[in-house]
Amino acid sequence: MNLTTSVHNQIFGTVQCPGDKSISQRALMIGALMNQEMTVDGFLHAEDPLSTMNALNQIGAGIKVDENGLVHLCKRNYIFQNCDEPLDLGNSGTGLRLMLGLTSGIGLNLSFCGDESLSSRPMSRVINPLTEMGANIKSSSGKLPISISARSLQKQYRYELPVASAQVKSSILLAGLASGTGVEIIEPIQTRDHTERMLKNFGANIEIASEGGKNIIQLAPSNHLHAENYKVVGDISSAAFLIVAALISDSPGLEITNVGMNPSRTGVLQALQNMGANIDVRNQRLESGEPCADLIIKKSILKGVELSGDIIPNIIDEIPIISIAAAFAEGETIIRDAEELRVKESDRLKAVSDGFTRLGIAHKNFEDGMSIMGSSNFLLLDQSTSIESHEDHRIAMSFLIAGLKCSKPIIVKNCKNIFTSFPDFIELISSIGYKLEK
Ligand code: S3P
Repeated sequence: MNLTTSVHNQIFGTVQCPGDKSISQRALMIGALMNQEMTVDGFLHAEDPLSTMNALNQIGAGIKVDENGLVHLCKRNYIFQNCDEPLDLGNSGTGLRLMLGLTSGIGLNLSFCGDESLSSRPMSRVINPLTEMGANIKSSSGKLPISISARSLQKQYRYELPVASAQVKSSILLAGLASGTGVEIIEPIQTRDHTERMLKNFGANIEIASEGGKNIIQLAPSNHLHAENYKVVGDISSAAFLIVAALISDSPGLEITNVGMNPSRTGVLQALQNMGANIDVRNQRLESGEPCADLIIKKSILKGVELSGDIIPNIIDEIPIISIAAAFAEGETIIRDAEELRVKESDRLKAVSDGFTRLGIAHKNFEDGMSIMGSSNFLLLDQSTSIESHEDHRIAMSFLIAGLKCSKPIIVKNCKNIFTSFPDFIELISSIGYKLEK
């Protein structure tokens, strides 16, 4: 599916932020393990969370969705069962890495597969610690296809994260939770803490302390988790596309309601505000242990910024769209310490650079980032230009937003992966004034 942008658009109105992808997947996995009746409201019905739901149902979770989109977890007279068919996690790194932890902890015999992008992504980062815990995992040199066979895990495990990754941290926590193993995780740089918050919210024995600038996360065996209803807040990573759309286009004001405001995810707001963005945060509240708020965004003159160090894991999914904001900001933006972007759904540094080259946006590439020479002027194109999405949802949406500042329509190729995280993107963006043609 190729998408073509339109020119002369004004972004305005009010939209509700779609549910958080990371939280939706965690609610299913932890909820299914709890084996109780529970509803999940605000769930993101996108391909990634749905492939996690299918995988859980393959091992007997019995998760159902009603006609209003409310997700129902049920109480079963068994916990989980083996499955002969591979569990297919599609495009989802979170789905695969967290399911590997969960199912190693339960002790099942299973195999896993995924799409081409997921099959090329590094899984040793979870296979190594899970193997140290006692899991029996076979892989193709640290990649899919992967199989596990049931083995009980050791009783206590301590691990210092060598890479700032919430997926690795969560995989180990879920293995510990499912097996009754006590785990202590040392996290040198803060990454998203949705798993810790959810476990606390459900009554697990989890403590988080800070020592010498590192987080120490301790999860003791926790048998009495309980919840009847969980409400998923909106995904700030999806909101980021709409925020940048309003900032760079001629916008009298865009309101986005129900945006997740977990401090381990709000670096994108901080980065954009440092660039001069006019973003007003209103009505701050807590939903199921996660902060959320409504945002009002107005067209702003942006300036370049430097982004490196501890903020990078916080904005890891937003760097492509921040790069688009930087391309339409005055002066230079420098992004460093972001080499993790090379092993996301695509090599996102290369994908952004390729798109910039097609559009004639001046930039320099580094192994761990890039520098972008921006201009707040409209980008004058002689003719309609096509850009590769590299089959990556965030690259596709980023360049579709860039189209707002281009004098000719741009065609973004192979956009179907938008459905992995933001299935209503085309309709939603059209409702606030920006038409995309299929
Ligand atoms: C996620 C963590 C991040 C992020 C991904 C979702 C999660 O990945 O990029 O989109 O749900 O835990 P890493 O843990 O690999 O940094």
